[in-house]
Amino acid sequence: MNGVPSLSDLASRHTMLTGADVEWLHALVSDWQLIADLSFADLTLWAPVRDRRGWLAMAQMRPTTGPTAVHDDVVGLRITTGQRPLLDAAIAQRRICREGDPDWTSGVPVRAETIPVTRGERVIAVIERSTNLNSARTPSRLELTYLRGADDLARMVAEGTFPFPGEEPILVRSPRVGDGLLRLGRQGQVTYASPNALSAYRRLGLTADLVGADLGPVTARLYAPDEPIDDSLMVVASGRRPRETEVEANGSVVQLRAIPLVVGGSRTGALILVRDVTELRRRERELMSKDATIKEIHHRVKNNLQTVAALLRLQARRLSEPEARSALEEAVRRVGSIAVVHETLSLTPDEVVDFDDVAARVATMAVEVSAPELGVTPRLVGTFGRLPAAVATPLAMVLTELLQNALKHGFGPADGYSRGSVSRRLDTPERDGHEADSHGPDRPGPDGRGPISRGPDSLGPDGHETDSPGSDSCETVSLGPDSLGPDGRGPDSRGPDSLGPDGRGPDSRGPDSRGPDSRGPDSRGPDSRGPDSLVVTARRLPGKLTVMIADSGAGLPEGFDLSTSDSLGLQIVRTLVAAELGGSLTINGRPAGGTLVMVELPVETV
Ligand SMILES: Nc1ncnc2c1ncn2[C@@H]1O[C@H](COP(=O)(O)OP(=O)(O)O)[C@@H](O)[C@H]1O
Ligand SMILES: [Mg+2]
Repeated sequence: MNGVPSLSDLASRHTMLTGADVEWLHALVSDWQLIADLSFADLTLWAPVRDRRGWLAMAQMRPTTGPTAVHDDVVGLRITTGQRPLLDAAIAQRRICREGDPDWTSGVPVRAETIPVTRGERVIAVIERSTNLNSARTPSRLELTYLRGADDLARMVAEGTFPFPGEEPILVRSPRVGDGLLRLGRQGQVTYASPNALSAYRRLGLTADLVGADLGPVTARLYAPDEPIDDSLMVVASGRRPRETEVEANGSVVQLRAIPLVVGGSRTGALILVRDVTELRRRERELMSKDATIKEIHHRVKNNLQTVAALLRLQARRLSEPEARSALEEAVRRVGSIAVVHETLSLTPDEVVDFDDVAARVATMAVEVSAPELGVTPRLVGTFGRLPAAVATPLAMVLTELLQNALKHGFGPADGYSRGSVSRRLDTPERDGHEADSHGPDRPGPDGRGPISRGPDSLGPDGHETDSPGSDSCETVSLGPDSLGPDGRGPDSRGPDSLGPDGRGPDSRGPDSRGPDSRGPDSRGPDSRGPDSLVVTARRLPGKLTVMIADSGAGLPEGFDLSTSDSLGLQIVRTLVAAELGGSLTINGRPAGGTLVMVELPVETV
């Protein structure tokens, strides 16, 4: 058997219970913890099987207030008629039946009672109540109150007035007997208050005695005098309706649940379950504001990183040494890739990001920042899926680094810093203004941009400029068009060549499928290239993520060895992949030319 069968399953397979009967039983068992606790007894729900020759155990409940008498799981158990005469008696006599002597079969004295479950005019099932008499002693005031409450409820079950017809079952965790209990008399006055219930009322600010008081008015008075009194509060606190409410006063929050007791057609009073939920509510509020705070922090981190990137970029533009400029540009890119992750995180309450989105933006950024003039558009194939922030940030940096290498070493000019020709660059009006006089036209400076054209002041739709620490100098130093970051590349600001969802359609080539542009390494020269291909393939398997970055570029230099390569880019990649992500990294030349980098990471499903 696979797990415990559900009440509905058992009912439809083995009994003659109708849909409405089953509904009734569902409502009963969603609330019968109360009866088990008040009785200090185990409850088993039995329904007659279809041929009426036996009984089937449909559900079971143990008390949280005392020891169990039924150690076995009995749900699904079938017994024949006559095996437990008390069950047959309850259905035949339509009343609560008690056994005279305790049953010792399980080794402890157990007293059994049976309560017919009545819906409308019919008895549809029977509750067997088993009390472990081992713990029985002279009952305290509390126990007596509990037991009396239990008896009232048992009679209501037999009379068909409990569960409360027509009331929605309470689905959230409602107070339990052990949380605190008040017994109200016929007129709504408190006749008994358990210690927990009394403490809860003390925390609400009650100083007077509770026993003897009218609970409705007493509870209402705890509210600030000028606050309107909640109607539902009065109804619940007076025990007239089977409802739940919350009282907030004196810095505490207390949940009240009323169970009106009507036995034999006359009102005998009510039980009020009382639970102090102050801590719970405070935690809930804290969690809610924590979510908002975390999002806000990610947003600010992103803004600050963008500012750092913009400052580095400005610095780069002032340098004339190509190597120095290139180093700063790389720093700009590294910082920018982290900013992308933080921006993604600032949009969700959980520390999980859709990495396909991040990858697309990182790829766009890699081209935009360093090689717009190459005319190479990375394609993304497959899916990264959702990744925890702790994986996403290093992976975004790794991807940036590897894309950058493909663009720079695979497709870039041999010297690594300059393409030697601007003929393929897209001229945009704003670039001319910044660049022509700051460095030679043959250098794709840090402000070289791809097809994505941004206005000079477009720091982004998020209004980042207003709180950017660099905003004062925005005008003079032109942070605008050069500023790095995810801004300005929403779906509508993307140029036709930038990477979008359509850039990874089913026709996208895998890393190993060389397209018509594949060439041998020796056929290439700076001016003889066809369309270059740069493909990122992500494959997410259970517990594992594989990322391949394949370019059709110049290929690795002679004698290249990853393990001995001591340049910064691959050193960063190696460290992040191995130490931070616990994965592996390989770089190889491709047979037909170009380079294939493979990253394999262990990743849990999130
Ligand atoms: N995709 C690639 N195609 C060709 N050569 C590559 C590629 N990736 C890395 N390399 C080689 O590996 C070297 C080390 O790369 P890296 O550590 O990132 O340093 P850097 O990019 O600063 O040169 C590069 O200088 C280049 O020779
Ligand atoms: Mg590099």
